[in-house]
Amino acid sequence: MKDIRFGIIGCGLMGREFASAAARWCHLQQMDARPVLAAVCDTTPEPLRWFTDNFAGIKQSTTKYEELLANPAVDAVYIAVPHNLHARLYCDAIAAGKHLMGEKPFGIDLAANRAIQSALKKNPAIFARCSSEFPFFPAMQRICRMIERAEFGTILEVNASFQHSSDLDPAKPMNWKRTIAANGEYGCLGDLGMHPLHVPLRAGWLPRNVRAILTRLYAQRPGRDGKPTTCETWDNATLLCETADPQTGTTFPMTIKTQRIAPGEKNSWNFEILGSRRCARFSTKQANTIQLLDYTGGEQCWQQIDMGHEMTYPTITGGIFETGFPDVILQMWAAFVSELAHRKTPGKFTGCVTPQETYLHHKILTAALESHRTASVVKIDPN
Ligand SMILES: NC(=O)c1ccc[n+]([C@@H]2O[C@H](COP(=O)([O-])OP(=O)(O)OC[C@H]3O[C@@H](n4cnc5c(N)ncnc54)[C@H](O)[C@@H]3O)[C@@H](O)[C@H]2O)c1
Repeated sequence: MKDIRFGIIGCGLMGREFASAAARWCHLQQMDARPVLAAVCDTTPEPLRWFTDNFAGIKQSTTKYEELLANPAVDAVYIAVPHNLHARLYCDAIAAGKHLMGEKPFGIDLAANRAIQSALKKNPAIFARCSSEFPFFPAMQRICRMIERAEFGTILEVNASFQHSSDLDPAKPMNWKRTIAANGEYGCLGDLGMHPLHVPLRAGWLPRNVRAILTRLYAQRPGRDGKPTTCETWDNATLLCETADPQTGTTFPMTIKTQRIAPGEKNSWNFEILGSRRCARFSTKQANTIQLLDYTGGEQCWQQIDMGHEMTYPTITGGIFETGFPDVILQMWAAFVSELAHRKTPGKFTGCVTPQETYLHHKILTAALESHRTASVVKIDPN
C-alpha cells in the first residue's frame, strides 16, 4: 500500500469531509494507495482542534499555509477555502511541488483560473484535479457508461441542475458566499456550476452559445451583528445552451440551473438526457434510483431500477445497500488517489474534473454573465 501524505488547507465543511473519507479508507477494496493526513492549516485555530483530536498522525497544525507548503512530509494538498483565495493558494501549492485537489470553481473567475492553468503548465509533474462528487453516484456512473456507448441515439435535450433552498429563509445570516469579494461576480454560478457541468464537459458537450437569466431575491440579510447587510451575489441562474454532440455532430438544447433558492429542494442534483432511442433521469432526491425509457417502437414506458451499492471503486458494502453523500465523497477521493498513483482512470467518466474542464466551465460562466448583462445570446469560444 502506497501512502500519500496529505495536507488540508481550509478546515471547514469540506476539509472535514475529506478527513472522514480518509479515515474509512479500509471501506475500499482493491486500492493500492491511500491518503494519510499529515498536516492541517486554517487561519482560525478552532477548527484545527477537531482534526488533531481525531487524527493522531497529524504532525503539523498551523495557521499559516506557507508553513504547510514548506513541509517536505506533505506530498499532496486538498485546498478548500473561499473562492477569492483559490488562485493564490493553488498557484503557491503547485509552485511548492504539491499535488493538488482544489475546490470548485478553481479560481474566483476566468482570470484567476488562467493563472492556475499557467502555474500548472510551468510545473507539468504536478497532478491537479477539481472536486466534484455527484457523478460518482452509481446511477450517474451507469448513465455515463450509456453516454460512452452512445446508447441514447440522437440527443434531443439535456437538463442538468444543482438546486438547494438553503437561502430561502431571509433570516439566514450573511456568509462569504453572498459577497463579491469572496465569491466573485459569479455568485451561485461559481458556487454550484461545476456540479451540473461536470458530466456534460466530460461527454464533450461544449455549448456553442448561451442565453442566461440570473436573479437575486433578497437584497439584505442579517450580518454578524444582526444588522441588515447587503447581499451582493446572484442567487439563481438558468442557462440555455445550444450544444453540439461530438458523437453525432447534431446540436441540442441543454439547460443548466444553479439555484440557491429553489423551494422544495434541500440539496438536489438532477440530470436528464432525452434521446431518440433511450432517455434517462437521475436525482439525488432518490439517490438509489435510475429512471430509464427505451424506445424501440410501440409503447413508451419509464422504468425504475434500484441501483444499490454498484460502486466504480469497489467497497466492502453489500451490493443491495443504498448510497449516500459520504459514500460518493469516498468514491471521488478514491478516483483522485488512484489517478494520482497510476496516472490513469478505469473509464472515461471515472476520474475527477480536470483543470482543462474547469477552464471550459469558466468560459461558460463568464459568457453567462455577459448574456445576462446584455440580454443576448453569447457565443462561447473554447480557446
Ligand atoms: N464539493 C462540494 O460539494 C462542496 C461543497 C461546499 C463547498 N465547496 C467548496 O469548498 C470550498 C470551501 O468551502 P466550505 O464550504 O468548506 O467553506 P467553509 O467556510 O466551511 O471553510 C473554509 C475554511 O477555510 C478557512 N480559511 C480561510 N482563509 C484561509 C487561509 N488563508 N488559509 C487557511 N484556511 C483559510 C476558513 O477559516 C474556513 O475554516 C469552496 O471552494 C466551496 O465552493 C465544495
